[in-house]
Amino acid sequence: MQLTLTRPDDWHLHLRDGVALATTVPDTARSFHRAIVMPNLRPPVVTVDAAIAYRDRILAAVPNGMTFDPLMTLYLTPDLGPEIIKEAASSEHVHGVKLYPQGATTNSDAGVASLDRVMPTLEAMTDTGLPLLIHGEVTDRSIDIFDREAVFLDRTLGPLMQRLPSLKVVLEHITTKDSVDFVKANPGMGATITVHHLIYERNDMLAGGIRPHLYCLPILKRSLHRDALIEAATSGSPQFFLGTDSAPHAIDDKESDCGCAGCYTAPFALELYAEVFEAQGKLDQLEAFASFNGADFYGLARNTEIITLLRTESLIPLTRLLGDKEVKLLRGGSTVAWSLA
Ligand code: NCD
Ligand code: ZN
Repeated sequence: MQLTLTRPDDWHLHLRDGVALATTVPDTARSFHRAIVMPNLRPPVVTVDAAIAYRDRILAAVPNGMTFDPLMTLYLTPDLGPEIIKEAASSEHVHGVKLYPQGATTNSDAGVASLDRVMPTLEAMTDTGLPLLIHGEVTDRSIDIFDREAVFLDRTLGPLMQRLPSLKVVLEHITTKDSVDFVKANPGMGATITVHHLIYERNDMLAGGIRPHLYCLPILKRSLHRDALIEAATSGSPQFFLGTDSAPHAIDDKESDCGCAGCYTAPFALELYAEVFEAQGKLDQLEAFASFNGADFYGLARNTEIITLLRTESLIPLTRLLGDKEVKLLRGGSTVAWSLA
């Protein structure tokens, strides 16, 4: 048995920088033609020139014989003004601006504490049609970590959509039924869904021992939320599309007293998504989710190349080296039911 589909894209990806690119870029390019590349480097990517320079470093890491088209983003800080939005919107390489609520996740300290401060920037994005890509969690310490996404919808995103109804928004890596419902109720919005949030729920991370390699943000939720995500991803709705949020961290930084958030999923993400869709009897919906919906949302042409997945097991290696740092792969050391031809 085999499955052919239009070459997919990854609409939310962390490639990191420097020596890591020699691993992360081929690991993504083996399956995906394009990826929306997150800007949470240190320092963050806040100018069009910096985004283009980062893009060039990524392109330099694409192995001969592979093609890969990195779609760049800027990091929204309180200093990113409307003039940069105009420059970004007219650049062929910048495709969105990422909102990290300050302190929400890895490298988010330069993020935004209050949206009021960036309203002129968001208005310029509304005018130019440049999408806002949102990490949707409040950072208020009084809010339980499992509730932070749902509270963000009430406190921040709902009011923002009322204020700027035609702002183009992608709610990134959604993890709750609340977000699925919110996105469906706002038909102009898009949302990405990771493969780890389709496979796992919080018991997998916390019951019978703590598994730091499943710790990511937004954190895994209870199983009813996972079920809602599976339903949304496999539904055929054009609002939901593939975004791995693949985010490598060295083993030492994950297996630590204060471990980092993020799962390295890129190398076998497509095979893992195929497994999820197959279990639902929805393999016929994989191409829309992985290859069409994101491109349509971003107003980009669909890919023309075809890839083939075979119904033969592949073994996911336990680790990868990023420079001299060892990183664990999601489900490393086990098999996945599909392999890339
Ligand atoms: C991401 C990272 O490590 O850059 N981590 C994660 O848990 N997803 C940041 C992010 O997307 O939140
Ligand atoms: Zn991310």
